Amino acid sequence: MARQTIRFGIIGAGLMGHEFAVVAARWPALLDLDIAPAIVGVCDTNPALLDWYRDTLPTVQCVTTDYRELLARPDIDAVYCAVPHHLHADLYTEIIAAGKPLLAEKPFGIDLEANERIMAAVRAHPEVLVRVSSEYPFYPGAQRIAQAARAGRFGRIIEVRSRYLHSSDLDPHKPINWKRMARFNGAYGCMGDLGMHAVHLPFRLGWTPYNVRALLSDIVRERPDKDGTMTRCDTWDNAILATEVSAGDQRFPMTIETKRISPGDMDTWSLEVLGTEYSIAFSTKHPRTLRVLEYSPGCEQAWQSTDIGYSSAYRTVTGGIFEFGFTDALLQMWAAFVDELAHGADMTQPFTCATPEEAALSHRLFTAALESERTRSVVAV
Ligand SMILES: NC(=O)c1ccc[n+]([C@@H]2O[C@H](COP(=O)([O-])OP(=O)(O)OC[C@H]3O[C@@H](n4cnc5c(N)ncnc54)[C@H](O)[C@@H]3O)[C@@H](O)[C@H]2O)c1
Repeated sequence: MARQTIRFGIIGAGLMGHEFAVVAARWPALLDLDIAPAIVGVCDTNPALLDWYRDTLPTVQCVTTDYRELLARPDIDAVYCAVPHHLHADLYTEIIAAGKPLLAEKPFGIDLEANERIMAAVRAHPEVLVRVSSEYPFYPGAQRIAQAARAGRFGRIIEVRSRYLHSSDLDPHKPINWKRMARFNGAYGCMGDLGMHAVHLPFRLGWTPYNVRALLSDIVRERPDKDGTMTRCDTWDNAILATEVSAGDQRFPMTIETKRISPGDMDTWSLEVLGTEYSIAFSTKHPRTLRVLEYSPGCEQAWQSTDIGYSSAYRTVTGGIFEFGFTDALLQMWAAFVDELAHGADMTQPFTCATPEEAALSHRLFTAALESERTRSVVAV
C-alpha cells in the first residue's frame, strides 16, 4: 500500500524528541494505515542535540535552534513539541497560529492561566488539529478497560483508582533538573509532570471529578545541581487526590495518585475499576496481564488473571503472543494522531489522542488540588 506522507517538525529534541523520532522509524510495523510520518525538521536550543537527528534520520532536511524557522517552512505539515512546561503557552500558541497541526506534550501549559491562553488559540483555530500526548491508554489492558466501561459491565461503580508512580527521586543524590524546579515545571509539581497520564483514560470514559481533597508531599527539598551545589527543589513530590465523580446517574470516589517517590515503582501506571458486577485492573508493571473479577450474588469472589498479549488498537506485524511496551504505546498514539489528521472522524479506529478539553479539565483539577492542599479543605473542580 502506498502511504501518504505527513512531514513533521520536532521542537524540543530531548528525551521525548528522540522517542518520537524513533517511532517514525518503526512505522512499517503498522498494518492498514495509508499514511506515514517523516521527520523533516528538528529544532532545539541546544545545538549539541541536533547531530543525532541529522546523522540518524535520512528524511531530515533542516536542523535549527530557532523554532520559527520550522514554522515558516511550507514543507512541514505538522509539529510535535516537547519542551519544558514554562514554554508551552508561548510555543503552542505560535504553532497553532502558524496553522500547523500539533501534537503537544502535557501538561499543556505550566498552569491554569497558561492553559487558558492555549485553549484560546485552539478555539481561534478550529481548523488546526491539536492533541495532547498521553500514550498509556493505548496499552491493550487499558483498551480492554475502555471496552468494559463502554459495554456498561461494572454494574454500580464502587471506586476507581488511577496511579502513576515513579521512584528514581527516592535517591536524594539524584541531580536536579528542570522537572524539579517550580519555575520551569510549574506549581503543580508531580501533578503537572505525571498527572495527564493518570487522568486521560478516566476522563475519556466520562468520569469527571466535581470536587477534590488533596494530600501533597514535598519530601526531598534540595538536590545537587550538576556541579554538586545543593539547590532548592521546590516541587511537590507526591500527590494523592481523592475526588468525587459524577457520571450519568452514578456518583463514586476516584483516587488519582501521581508520585515521584514511590519506592520500587520505576514508571508504572495502573488503573483499577471496582464495580458491583465486574471489576477490572491493569498495570503497566505487568503489561501482558489483565485482572478481572466477575461477581453475581452467591458466587465466590475470585480475581482471574489473563495474558492478553499484543492486541493493539492499530494492527501491527507484531505477533499476538508478544509483550506490549512503552514504545509500542507511543507508536499506537502516533498512529491515532496521524490517522485523525488525515481522516478526521473516519479514522481507522475510534480512540483519539487526548484532547485539549481533557487537558483543560486536568488543569482545573490540579489547580483545585493546590487550593485544597493550601486550605486543607474540599474544593470544587
Ligand atoms: N508523554 C510522555 O510519556 C512524556 C515523558 C516525558 C516527558 N514528557 C513531556 O515532554 C516535554 C519535554 O520533556 P522531556 O523529558 O523531553 O524534556 P527534555 O529536557 O529532555 O527535553 C526538552 C528539550 O527542549 C529544549 N528546548 C528548550 N527551550 C527550547 C526552545 N525555545 N526551542 C526548542 N527547544 C527548546 C531543551 O534544550 C531540551 O532539549 C514536557 O512537556 C514533558 O512533560 C512526556
